[in-house]
Amino acid sequence: MTLRDKIKLTEGKNCWETREYPDDGVPKIFMCDGPHGLRKQDFTNQLFSSESVKATCFPTAVTTASSFDVNLLEEIGDAIAKEAIDQKSQMVLGPGVNIKRNPLCGRNFEYFSEDPYLAGKLAAGLIKGIQKNNIGACIKHFACNNQEYKRMASDSLLDERTLREIYLTAFEIAIKESKPKAVMSSYNKINGDYSSENKKLLTDILRDEWGFEGFVMSDWSAINDRVKSIQAGCDLLMPGGTGYGEKEVINAVKRGELSKNDIRRSAARIAKVARDLEVKFTPVESDGIEDYIHSHDVARKAAEQSAVLLKNDGILPLKANVKIALLGEMADNMRYQGSGSSRINPMHLVNPVDVLDGCKDIEAADVCVIFAGLPDAYEAESYDRADMKMPQSHIDLINETAAKNPNTVVVLFAGSPVEMPWIDNVKAVLYMGLPGEAGGEAVKNLLYGYVNPCGKLAETWTYNYSDVPSAESFGSRDAVYSEGIFVGYRYYSSKNVAVRFPFGYGLSYTTFEYDKPVVSGDKVTVKVKNTGSVSGYETVMMFVEPPESGEIERPVRELKGFTKIYLKPGETKTAEFTLTDRSFAIWQDGWVIPKGTYNIEVGGKKAFIFKQGDEFTPIKYEIPKPSMRLAVKGEYTLNDSVMDLMHESKIVEAFVKKREKEMAEKYGNTTSPEYMLMHESVLSAPMRAMIMAGQVKEKVANALLECANGKMTEAFFKYLEL
Ligand code: GLC
Repeated sequence: MTLRDKIKLTEGKNCWETREYPDDGVPKIFMCDGPHGLRKQDFTNQLFSSESVKATCFPTAVTTASSFDVNLLEEIGDAIAKEAIDQKSQMVLGPGVNIKRNPLCGRNFEYFSEDPYLAGKLAAGLIKGIQKNNIGACIKHFACNNQEYKRMASDSLLDERTLREIYLTAFEIAIKESKPKAVMSSYNKINGDYSSENKKLLTDILRDEWGFEGFVMSDWSAINDRVKSIQAGCDLLMPGGTGYGEKEVINAVKRGELSKNDIRRSAARIAKVARDLEVKFTPVESDGIEDYIHSHDVARKAAEQSAVLLKNDGILPLKANVKIALLGEMADNMRYQGSGSSRINPMHLVNPVDVLDGCKDIEAADVCVIFAGLPDAYEAESYDRADMKMPQSHIDLINETAAKNPNTVVVLFAGSPVEMPWIDNVKAVLYMGLPGEAGGEAVKNLLYGYVNPCGKLAETWTYNYSDVPSAESFGSRDAVYSEGIFVGYRYYSSKNVAVRFPFGYGLSYTTFEYDKPVVSGDKVTVKVKNTGSVSGYETVMMFVEPPESGEIERPVRELKGFTKIYLKPGETKTAEFTLTDRSFAIWQDGWVIPKGTYNIEVGGKKAFIFKQGDEFTPIKYEIPKPSMRLAVKGEYTLNDSVMDLMHESKIVEAFVKKREKEMAEKYGNTTSPEYMLMHESVLSAPMRAMIMAGQVKEKVANALLECANGKMTEAFFKYLEL
């Protein structure tokens, strides 16, 4: 391969493939979104060119996280990989492990938890399941992509300890444990540097500290400066096909600003993974149908094992002879996944009404089951939620029904926590998250007790949005993580803030009792007994509580172990955990263990362990100041969006209006998630992103830029490429 070939290899061939050089033994990689199913697009250079190929839609991460079951995630990954093989794809773009800093992030449905230990362990399970089929996984979005608002321009501003302990740990655990073939750098900046050109992130930490050996790809159209990206360790620009930045790369090599070795290094990483993933055999030309039947069963089991019983005064499980009413729009059309790049075209969608017999008459029914929650448009990729409220119509239906028939049960479909002003009026609440295509079957099996609910919340549900520690700072382009490490339960339990449902909460149709934990060396054991009348799973969680008199502020508890055990009535089993240095460590320019006595808490009972710890000088980290770059006329760059610039130029305004009209015609209503995603990705995104996404030619973007800068002559020169 020539150097030119190697430069080409560091840019995708189109929206979904890398380039192939057969004579040099470099096959292509055809990648598809994930993370909760295969979204195979056709090969045009569009993010959403057409309805994707039918595939099994598994529950999204918000749901499977509540299973607390690493083996289940591995089963899901295995099933997705088999469908990838059937569709001749070599890489699945997932899992997403960004931490849930704030419940309004529109994309939290696609992520696991507010806790990095849980998120990392579950992600490792999914990646292992995918990669044991010789299909690559791509963990994303690395890192600190914790909001959707202006995600391509936002700057996440946080101190080093918060970055390490909260926002990188899930990636660290998953990468060390499961070795994903790829990492996707995120859109945003971190402390002023775009992730895609952040050497500390992509080389010093990811490779030199963690030993990552795959390749790094950018998020779609996320590259800012292609030369800096290659230097930093972002190996592959996606989507490819426009040659974005190629001239700059070639010129930088000529000027000696970019070493040829950097290019060779990136090209070699991509080539190695492509060879690793090359199909060593032609997939069996099966119709693959049996894989999809198996996948659907896994999807149903995952929904059953992840659902969280939030309230039950005894009305559940329903008895077979009870006459039920099925109410609410989501009985017929449940919300089973989120919108954006993860949206799957389900192979076999089963709604609650497809498997439940019920009437619509509140008065005649013994029990009213209302299917309610967050509709698609309330949360999606590319924009954030306005608040934590459900639609008023859903709230009214619940209250009106309960007023007429007190035996009211709510089945809730939502990708993130909601405020529940109605909860005291109903007798039970079963939270399904976004349960995937088999959600209807899972609901039936759970309501009738054929399956005993065992899910536990993987994020805190507050009474009100104002209780959330980042509520004040969330929603601006530049995000100042002033709450630091006090995210989720780390905040609520440390500051004694009452919450509606705590992290780890979930009821069962049976009950469990815990003995005191026993610590012996680095082992922790605890006996758990099923004291109820039905069998069921119990997730046993181990929290570590730091010494009280610590010089450095720490959360009062942190999750450092979890395991799931199945118990028959009266049965007792022993749950086992292993403590490691990281069970006690904090970041102080390295991982150190403060000396002192730590509590080990399991099931509300405690044992303790003394740690001699490390000698270190405490460091108090500061949050970097925002780089408040306020763009002004004459200084606009391709990092500004046409929406930012349209007030400066009638030509830019006309361009925006024309594109908005075209989008409205293509996507119908302008509140649909699809319209919002394209609007964000094209018109609200930096103009450089429009070029890479093939939405506008580079000469047009440059001409529009000069119009906004008031330089009309330059605008013509740029348009005519003179
Ligand atoms: C999107 C998403 C990313 C996805 C990619 C390809 O913008 O941020 O998760 O894998 O583009 O669709």
